Order: sequence, then C-alpha cells, then structure tokens
Amino acid sequence: MAVDIPQFTLNTGYKIPSVGIGCWMGSPGGGEIAEQMCKTALQVGYRHIDTAYGYGNEEFVGKAIRESGVPREEIFLTTKLPNHHHHKVKQSFEESLSKLGVDYVDLYLMHWPQAFTEDNKPIPHDQSPTFVETWKDMEALLDTGKVRSIGVSNFSIKLLEVLLRETDVVPATNQVECHPCLPSVDLKLWCEQRGILITAYSPLGRPGEFDGKPVFLDDPDVTSIAKKYNASPAQVALSWGVKRGTIVIPKSQNPDRIKQNITLLDLTDEDMAALNEIHLKPGMHRSLLRYHEYSGDGTIFGWTYDQLGWNMTKGGIVCSLD
Ligand code: A2P
Repeated sequence: MAVDIPQFTLNTGYKIPSVGIGCWMGSPGGGEIAEQMCKTALQVGYRHIDTAYGYGNEEFVGKAIRESGVPREEIFLTTKLPNHHHHKVKQSFEESLSKLGVDYVDLYLMHWPQAFTEDNKPIPHDQSPTFVETWKDMEALLDTGKVRSIGVSNFSIKLLEVLLRETDVVPATNQVECHPCLPSVDLKLWCEQRGILITAYSPLGRPGEFDGKPVFLDDPDVTSIAKKYNASPAQVALSWGVKRGTIVIPKSQNPDRIKQNITLLDLTDEDMAALNEIHLKPGMHRSLLRYHEYSGDGTIFGWTYDQLGWNMTKGGIVCSLD
C-alpha cells in the first residue's frame, strides 16, 4: 500500500509525489543494485523514481518498474537529457524511452544547461546548441504525447530569465542541489513566483562525499530535532525539504533507509526556523558535491560560475547569504 506522502501539482496540472527515489548510484551504472533499490522503493510505497540517461541504469529502472507489479500509471517517472545529446534531443529521448521500456515519461529534464560534443567536450556557453535551442527541441516533444511535463536541472535565476524570455513553455521544475547547507532561498522564491517547483537533489547532502567538510546531518540542531521525534537526522532534512515545498529525491540502496526516507515528520514552525538557519553557521553555506573539484580551474563542466549564474566561488562555497 502506498505510504501517505504529500503530492505537489506541477504547472502542467500533473501531480508529483513529494518524495522520490534518486537513481544516481555514485558513478554511472549500478545496474542490478539500482534495480533492486527501485523494487524495494516501490514495495514500500514510493511512487516517484528519478533517473537520467547519464546515470547509465535506465534499463534496470525500467525492469524494476515492470517487475514490481505496480501499474505504470501509478508511478511518476523522470529521466534526463545528457549534455552530449543536446544536438539530438528527439533521438536521445526515444533512446531513453526504449531503454526504460515505457511508452511515456512523466517528466523529462535538461540535465545541465551546458551542451557537450558527442565525444563529451564542453561547448562554450555562447555557442550552439545553446540551452535555449535545446529547450525548443524539448518543447516539441510535448506534441508527441510521450512526455507529460518538461523541466530543467542545475539552472540559476540568470539562465531561467533568458529561458523564459526566449521560449514558450515554462519549465515544470528546476532540479537543483538543495539541502539545509544550500537552501537556495532566492532561487526557490523566484521559481515559485513563476510556477516552477524546485526538486531537491542530494537532499541529504550526499553524506560521505567529502571527508572533514561540514555535514548538516551531524549538526546539533538537526540531531536534537531528530532525537525529539525519535527519528533520524535524514528524516529531519527530508521533512524540512517537503514542508518548505520542495520535492526531495534521496538515494538509498539500503532497505531500512529507503523506508525511513519516506517516513516524514510533522515538524513545528520552531523546528523549521532552526533548520532554515543551518546554512548561516560558519562554513556551512555551500555545495556538498564533488563536481566543483573536477576541473581544478573552478569551472563546472566547462562553464564558469558566472556563466552558470551560480553565486559561488571555487569549491562550491556560496559568496553571499541568500
Ligand atoms: P545508502 O545508499 O547506503 O543508504 P543524497 O541523496 O543526498 O545524494 O545522498 C545519498 C547518500 O546518502 C547515499 O550514500 C546513501 O547511502 C546515504 N543515505 C541515504 N539515506 C540515508 C539515511 N536515511 N541516513 C543516512 N544516510 C543515508
């Protein structure tokens, strides 16, 4: 039986469960583990699965859905266009559908605004295909009836302003890293005012990603709230995310944690106020993901923070409070 978790409504009118299982397994692939993870999630009541072409496990996610016994139409399924396919949106989308083995997806996202060449080299931000061109091709997918809503991921206000000015369809969601260390208050408000829901990826801050860097799951305010409810710090973070109106998609391949992550707490206003301030503590306002360190030159997949419109310095440290 499905667990009672809130559903939000996208600007297309479709409902989306506010908690989903994230299928990034830490590196591309994860095959059978991802399949088992999705099966367990569906068994314990998840009805929202978030994957991506780039996660390299769409076949296994599709297999889990088919073998779960849960009717396809009860499951909200998201996948994403990879950077190196911006120049062939329709083809890439069809490939994802075929790998998933489904007739339609509920949500199709542009994974990143950056386009890459087919052999994975970043294309400069002002060269074709621009994210505006890519989005126009994604808009055309809506006419096929094989995708119910389209959205973006990793977009800043700066890029969304361009997108909304130059295209017709307002994204249904903007999926970004979001957790108590990176609440993105300005972006969330801006998106809400335009009917764009925030989906929080890495809502647990991907514990274990960095050694010795601040992890909000160990923050005393988070742990004391958890103790009060006899729950885990992860449940506190996820309940905060949903209560503030964001969709959360934690990844867990551990059956107990999978269950825990869809058991939300009824946080008080006082709890919410304390959690809203975690990022204001010294050293806490930052991304907790490792891709900030990949290039060594402060770019993210070929673009500078300024080109991305991310208010951060090298390493993913937020420049000013928001
Ligand atoms: P595991 O799969 O072993 O449960 P995020 O979704 O923020 O990127 O975080 C994913 C990471 O968080 C995974 O390493 C996952 O490990 C871990 N994780 C998932 N759920 C919990 C939980 N309830 N408590 C602690 N860690 C968790």
